[in-house]
Amino acid sequence: MMFFSTVVSTFALAIAAVSAAPAPTSPNVGSPVSLIVVSPEISSPTAGQVWPINSTQTVTWDASKLPKESANMTGMLLLGYEQDGVSSEHLDITHPLATQFPLSAGHVNVTVPNKPAGDNYIVVLFGDSGNTSPKFTIQ
Ligand SMILES: *[C@@H]1O[C@H](CO)[C@@H](O)[C@H](O)[C@H]1NC(C)=O
Ligand SMILES: *[C@@H]1O[C@H](CO)[C@@H](O)[C@H](O)[C@H]1NC(C)=O
Ligand SMILES: *[C@@H]1O[C@H](CO)[C@@H](O)[C@H](O)[C@H]1NC(C)=O
Repeated sequence: MMFFSTVVSTFALAIAAVSAAPAPTSPNVGSPVSLIVVSPEISSPTAGQVWPINSTQTVTWDASKLPKESANMTGMLLLGYEQDGVSSEHLDITHPLATQFPLSAGHVNVTVPNKPAGDNYIVVLFGDSGNTSPKFTIQ
């Protein structure tokens, strides 16, 4: 759980860094090794898509832009939801939708968990940073 919390808290930092490139996000300050941040863009679910509880859904992302150094990296997919005026994505860290799948595959199938119906759900795909999907519906 330590690991997951660390990943999630680094998420905000990594996003902040993207707008201010080149960014010294590496903890190895002074090291000549540059940190690659892998967070492929999610192409499905799309905004407003409907996920019935218990159905199987395919989450897809653009694997073509992944750096070759990430060839063997595995991903983690978390479910969350957004609320107006709240910056938290309410990620369900204790029940990942999927873990240990190859990022290079560009997709992973998940079973939609039993959650209260809502149209403000998101998924976040983690490599070593995270990328958030548009909002979709669970019903
Ligand atoms: C989802 O599947 C579980 C286990 O098979 C079942 O108990 C539950 O009623 C199903 N829920 C819905 C909304 O279909
Ligand atoms: C990925 O794994 C394969 C097989 O283990 C290995 O040959 C290759 O060098 C690895 N690639 C990277 C970028 O680590
Ligand atoms: C994932 O879901 C898609 C679409 O339903 C299906 O074609 C594919 O076979 C599934 N893949 C796996 C590994 O279950």
